[in-house]
Amino acid sequence: MSVYESHLASAEQAAWPLDATIAWDAIDVALARREEHILAALHDAALIEGYLPVFAPRLMQLLWDDLDVTAVLSLELYEGLRHYTALKRYLRAVGFEPAVVSEERMIAARERALAEQREPGSPIAELTNFACSELFAAYFFLRLSRETREPVLRQLLEHMARDEFRHAAAGADLLAKRVRLDPGAADEILRSAQSFRHYGSDVVDVPLATTNDFEAIAAMNRMIRQACGVSPTQHIQERLNARSI
Ligand SMILES: [Fe+2]
Repeated sequence: MSVYESHLASAEQAAWPLDATIAWDAIDVALARREEHILAALHDAALIEGYLPVFAPRLMQLLWDDLDVTAVLSLELYEGLRHYTALKRYLRAVGFEPAVVSEERMIAARERALAEQREPGSPIAELTNFACSELFAAYFFLRLSRETREPVLRQLLEHMARDEFRHAAAGADLLAKRVRLDPGAADEILRSAQSFRHYGSDVVDVPLATTNDFEAIAAMNRMIRQACGVSPTQHIQERLNARSI
């Protein structure tokens, strides 16, 4: 079976239709508005999710000859659209400056990303960046779900965190496939993970992940170790040891 098929099946099983799953009418607006910093973080997340139709096709063009990659990115686009819509709907429901997730604002964010577009890295480097970004997004939503007191938002964030963990798992499987096909790919994956940069920083100033997000960093180490057989921190240690011999 192709790598992507199990992820397609998981996505189908895990689908949470926005209207049927989220109790939009039960949002505690007063409580939500007291959590201004969380609303600001949701706004950034909405811009990042809404950037996927620009980001994912670029990655697809780079990796067009790997059908598993294009399938996983197709799922990412669809589920990212659900996240974008859910975040926008929530922010509007609580009256958080409706204009901030307007179509004009979204297009301005995409313009910024296109204007500052960097040369793409190698296919493996970009794939590693994608997998790591998804994992950090999962921890970002998870952290906010633990922090918020607003029950509808907590439910929404838990759904989105679970989706991002699935996306990261799909990314990890794509990396593992590369290593199976060419064991030499592991070294490039490890090097890329060490210098990973969240793709959300193309559109927002403050990336989803904080540099001291130790829970996410530990999870990234585990994910890369599963794909490569060695973790980024072990890899750095081995290189340091080799230098000191
Ligand atoms: Fe995602």
